[in-house]
Order: sequence, then C-alpha cells, then structure tokens
Amino acid sequence: MKTIIEPFRIKSVERLKMTTEAQRKHLLKNAHYNVVLLNSDDVLIDLLTDSGTTAMSSEQWASLHLGDESYVRSPSYYKFVAAVQKYMPFKYVLPTHQGRPAERILASVVSQDGSIIPNNSHFDTTRANFSHAKATPIDLVIDEAKDPTSLYPFKGNMDIPKLALLLEKSQQNIPLIMLTITNNSVGGQPVSMANIRQTSELCKSFNIPLFFDACRFAENAYLIKRNEAEYQDVSIKSIVQEMFSYADGMTMSAKKDALVNTGGWLALNDDHWAEKAMDQLLLTEGFITYGGLAGRDLHAMALGIEEGIDEDYLKYRINSIEYLGNALDKVGIPVHKPFGGHAIYIDVEAMFSHIPVSAHPGQALNMALYEEAGIRACEISSVKLDNSAKQQNTSEKIIVRLAIPRRVYTKSHLDYIVEAFDNINRRKEQIQGLNMTLDAHPLRQYAAQFEPI
Ligand code: F0G
Repeated sequence: MKTIIEPFRIKSVERLKMTTEAQRKHLLKNAHYNVVLLNSDDVLIDLLTDSGTTAMSSEQWASLHLGDESYVRSPSYYKFVAAVQKYMPFKYVLPTHQGRPAERILASVVSQDGSIIPNNSHFDTTRANFSHAKATPIDLVIDEAKDPTSLYPFKGNMDIPKLALLLEKSQQNIPLIMLTITNNSVGGQPVSMANIRQTSELCKSFNIPLFFDACRFAENAYLIKRNEAEYQDVSIKSIVQEMFSYADGMTMSAKKDALVNTGGWLALNDDHWAEKAMDQLLLTEGFITYGGLAGRDLHAMALGIEEGIDEDYLKYRINSIEYLGNALDKVGIPVHKPFGGHAIYIDVEAMFSHIPVSAHPGQALNMALYEEAGIRACEISSVKLDNSAKQQNTSEKIIVRLAIPRRVYTKSHLDYIVEAFDNINRRKEQIQGLNMTLDAHPLRQYAAQFEPI
C-alpha cells in the first residue's frame, strides 16, 4: 500500500469549538491582534507549538494509575531511569519538569564569567539560560542552513571547521559543546550521524564534553535513516543508541519526542558536575528522584520514550509533515525546504512581499490564518527574538512556524490548513501590516499588542 495512515485509531475525542469569521474578528480585536493572547478554546487548529501538546496513548493513560507517589526513590523513578538508560547510557539521570530547568541547572553548573558555549544553534531557552549564567552562547550551524534554496538534507549540522577554529582560539573558556537535534532554530533540520561523530571526535581531541539538546532526537534518528545512505537498513533503536554513544550528557524536553504533556531530564556522566546538579535540583525542583514531577508523569515518560522511537509512528510523523509541506508548496506558498522534523516554516517576506518588515508581516499572516480558518501559528523572528538574540540569530528572516502536535490532528485537518493558506494567498494584496502598540520585552511574543494599519 502506498497510502501512509495514522498508525492509531481514536478512542477518546476532544471537541473543537467551531467559530464564524465574524466571531474570530471580534476575538482577535479583544486579543490586541496577538494570537498568543487568544484563549486556546477559541482556536480551531493550534500550531503554536509541538511541545507538550501530544496526545498520549491508551497505554500511557493506563500507566498513570501505576505511578507511585512516594516522596523518594519510588519504583516509577527506576522505571523512568531504565527507559532512558536503555538508549542513552548516561550515569546520572535527573528528572525535571521540562527542558529548561535541565538547561538552567546545566548552565549554572558549568558556566562562569567568560565561558563560551558553542552549539549548532541554541534554542531560545538554552541561549537565555547560558546568558543568565554569564556565559556567551555561540551558534555555529553550517552555511547551508541560512540558504532557503539549499536542499541539503542535514541543514542542522555543526560547522566543523568553524568549531575547530573556535576551539583552537578559546579552548580554556569552553566548558562544554552542545548539539541541538533536531535543530529547531533553523527549521527543525536534522544533524547527520557523520556530523555527530565528527563533532564528538573534535570535542574528544580537545577534551571537552559534548552535550545534546535532544528534544527531537527520534525525529532526527528517522531522518538519518531516511537520508544517510549507511543507515537505511539500520533500526531506529540502533541509530538512537549510536547517536547517544557519542555524547557525554544531554538535556531533554520530554514534551516533544518522549510524547508526554510535561517532563524532561538532565543526564550526564561527570561525577563532579552531577553532584552540583543534584544540589540545584534539590534547591528549586524537588528531590532528585522526582525533580518536580509526579510518579505518574515518570511512568508516562518511560512509555513515551519507547513509543516515540517506534518506526511506524515515526514514518507517519515525518510523512505527515512532508505531506503538509508539499501541499502548501503546490498552492504556491513559499515553504522552507527540505522539510524538517516537527514543523513547516513559511518564508513570510516572500509570501507578503508587499508588507514592509517594520509592519510585522509575520503577525499579519498569523492574523489572516486565524481570521480565515481559526488556525493559530507562531511567528519566530522579529517579534519573538530580543535584540541580543537577533545578533546571534542564524536567520533574521521573518518566519511563521506551523508546529504540528504529535498524534493530534488528522490528514483532513492538514488539508484544511492548506485550503486556508490557498485562500489567503489569493487575496494577499488586501492584507495589511500591523503597528506594535505595546512592546512587552523580554516576553515580547507572549504579550505584545498590535493594531491593524
Ligand atoms: N530545546 C529546544 C530545541 C526546544 O525546541 C525547546 C522548546 C527547549 C529546548 C525547551 O524545552 O519548553 O520543555 O522547556 N521548544 C518549544 C517550541 C517551546 O515551541 O519549540 P521546554
């Protein structure tokens, strides 16, 4: 069979509140023309993020009842640690309530004034956490990532020569090197196994540990299998194990590829760093065997790790992203290619070339999507990034991201998104920009207010 179906059936449904265009216009006005200020039950299809928006499986829901809520050393913790260490064999595994506390703890443990933290591309929260710990985050992604016309299949890769140069110059200021897989900031682009291996070899030659920001490790593994010749006949599980064999630690937001609504972890080998990290965990998150989570959350994560690397699930996942990207491409929407793991990225400056950047074309597209069809997307760039991040940003282009929640929407929802884009594209000359009336730095994208020009 050629048709790739959702490898699940639906047992429990969540009703969507249907709205009319007139209602949506009114709701937008009340939300000061910022879709982030809309209540989520007024949104029909929510593509703001793929984080924590996953539909858990019946097995995961059933496992919640097995969660042991003892304060320390509950069986749920050991089940979780065993599930992580099966694929990510780090000595210490510290649960956290999501990705950023793991980043904050790691940053506070390894950084000092003057530290430099290279990454292929830092995600906003890793950048912010290292900056907060007085370190300087640096992005060293390959040049292909900045070229929207490049079809290179691993645009998330680390630029090895640039990393080597930096290491030669500043070795003593670099406590660790990070690799974000997949690379969210440049379009959810994967990192190849060859690049992971080369980065690891370079790190070893300078005796500097390599840490993964591994939120979307499973999607990365699938893209390695699909696009890297030597891995076509290797199982996803073996690919995942090989990926992590090159690392010395990781931060994880389980809200993505571990298929849960909340959770994360920090894992590492270094005894001294682990001791300091556990002190931090105790101080602000909770005891080291629950880190701010309930026992039941640890159960759901343990199962989510296995379900997230299931080949049938990943095949459906990556193919549905590609289906959406190809369909948008077909109706003339400028989409970033090749399609990455978790989202489709729209080149807004190309789509709305009649709206100057100062009039927030990304917000204008967000408005149009909501007005037309009740769809909420996310602008990443001019509004989201603060000025310091912008200087470091690998792409200063205005992008709207359509992040696809896992196992939530069906193919007809994707067709609906495509129709909305097609309709907007046909009347795009009538769509105007917006003025920002309230600039709410530093949480600009969550609180800024606009009005139509
Ligand atoms: N690293 C990456 C690459 C991420 O994409 C995210 C979150 C985090 C770290 C932080 O994890 O949210 O659990 O604290 N990304 C979400 C997004 C918010 O929409 O891309 P968190």
